[in-house]
Amino acid sequence: MSQELTTEINRRRTFGIISHPDAGKTTLTEKLLLFGGAIVTAGAVKSKKASRYATSDFMEIEKQRGISVATSVMGFDYKGYKINLLDTPGHEDFCEDTYRTLTAVDSAIMVIDSSKGVEAQTYKLLEVCKMRNTPIMTFMNKVDREGHDPIYLLDEIEDKLGMTVCPMSWPIGMGKSFQGVYSIYEKSLILFKAHGKQSEGNVVRISDLNSTELDNAIGEDAAKQLRHDIELVTGVYPEFTLEEYLYGIVTPVFFGSALNNFGVREMLDFFIVHAPAPQPRDTDNRKVDPSEAKFSGFIFKIHANMDPKHRDRIAFLRICSGEFVRGEKLVNVRTKKIIRPSNPTAFMASSKEIIDNAYPGDIIGIHDTGNLKIGDTLTMGESIMFKGIPSFSPEIFKRVVNLDPLKTKQLHKGLEQLCEEGVAQLFTRHSNGDKIVGTVGALQFEVIQFRLQHEYGAACRFDPLPFIKACWITAPSEIIQKYVTTRTREIALDGEERFVFLAETQWSLEREIKEQPQIKFHFTSEW
Ligand code: G4P
Repeated sequence: MSQELTTEINRRRTFGIISHPDAGKTTLTEKLLLFGGAIVTAGAVKSKKASRYATSDFMEIEKQRGISVATSVMGFDYKGYKINLLDTPGHEDFCEDTYRTLTAVDSAIMVIDSSKGVEAQTYKLLEVCKMRNTPIMTFMNKVDREGHDPIYLLDEIEDKLGMTVCPMSWPIGMGKSFQGVYSIYEKSLILFKAHGKQSEGNVVRISDLNSTELDNAIGEDAAKQLRHDIELVTGVYPEFTLEEYLYGIVTPVFFGSALNNFGVREMLDFFIVHAPAPQPRDTDNRKVDPSEAKFSGFIFKIHANMDPKHRDRIAFLRICSGEFVRGEKLVNVRTKKIIRPSNPTAFMASSKEIIDNAYPGDIIGIHDTGNLKIGDTLTMGESIMFKGIPSFSPEIFKRVVNLDPLKTKQLHKGLEQLCEEGVAQLFTRHSNGDKIVGTVGALQFEVIQFRLQHEYGAACRFDPLPFIKACWITAPSEIIQKYVTTRTREIALDGEERFVFLAETQWSLEREIKEQPQIKFHFTSEW
């Protein structure tokens, strides 16, 4: 194992941010990039969001696609670490990519709005993290605003998300009375100066909370309250242990305000030291260690280019082992075809640049003309397939109605290709061959319709269907054959001809699972 490779692996931190829209993901991202020197002015990341109110006009999304390639992966250096932040699109562009991106990270930061608590999208994204026991740090944001009581917020994480919390800092007041946070971990007081940036001068080391220093810094009443809070908190919650965090059992929680850049640096400093470097990954026949000399990686996302005349796309490759060297021959294990990426790009915050080398944990962009699929493994020749890059159940289903019978072929080809990109999932109803498109975000339908028309010349309409979930089903052959003929309405085939059960309600799904014990229902396409 080369020393250089080990050093490069150990200094990499590849993560994603999970949050509900408006919790502060963009603001936090921007602050992290500012620390990394990747951007110099506030507002650089915001430009993406600025148009979000206009995105009911989905043309905007098309325009944004260029920007979203650039912000899909934001790489930056901080204190000697190479940090790769993978974007998890929210708002209207929330889609399966958002889920799948989380299969390419080594850890995640969860941002919660302290005035709202745990919200729906956070919950969904966390479920994906839990499948892989992804370690999660929590940033309890917006403490400068009146919010819920900190204990209530921590209880909510435990109850709703099923994780043990470990507060690393504690807010002193909230909203108008907010004075700063006490870092339980570093035993220091970080004072909040409204409208001012956090600086070293605002940090007071307090080794003993009983000292009068504390009263002098925040006033007697607040000091009394803080002493009481810390006694309670340290008595109730466990001390941080790295192991439990790395197993995804415990989430360290930091209180702060992304907008005021408050408490962000403390979390980042903690993150670089404790968050995992690239980890070994499972394949269908062995575990691959990042320090193995031979290159391997997988495709987790495919992004079509803007220009409809050239159907070239960018495939996002997560490197799992070895060094990637530009121009070297790689094998696509699924097709056995050799590819030789000639202009691989690295993503450094808002710019893309062609690179000669990359290491485990890094994400590179490869130009593709339709040979790569999401989930593909690339190696130097070994026949292994990385696991854990499944499809997730869509939540909105619509039947495709072909509006131009002369363009049926184009329609089918377009649907297939767009679904390969991960824009949506395509199902075929078992009983009558109807094409059903499933997505996790409503806007995807407009995007598909638009792109089918402009890139494939095919016109279609979508008729709503009452389903809310697709479950992949397995059972011994004779049982499944019998079952699918009795359930004509709810049974469809996915793009790989696997049976799925389409459920109308959570309740009906649960009933079906109970009533059909011989059938296994899977919530992702990988089991
Ligand atoms: P998102 O990417 O998770 O959707 O959230 P984003 O960062 O865009 O933040 C959503 C809103 O919350 C923004 O306000 C942002 O300024 C605000 N915000 C983020 N962090 C904090 C914080 O620590 N304290 C307070 N008080 N507000 C915060 P907006 O009005 O929607 O947008 P803008 O006009 O400020 O850009």
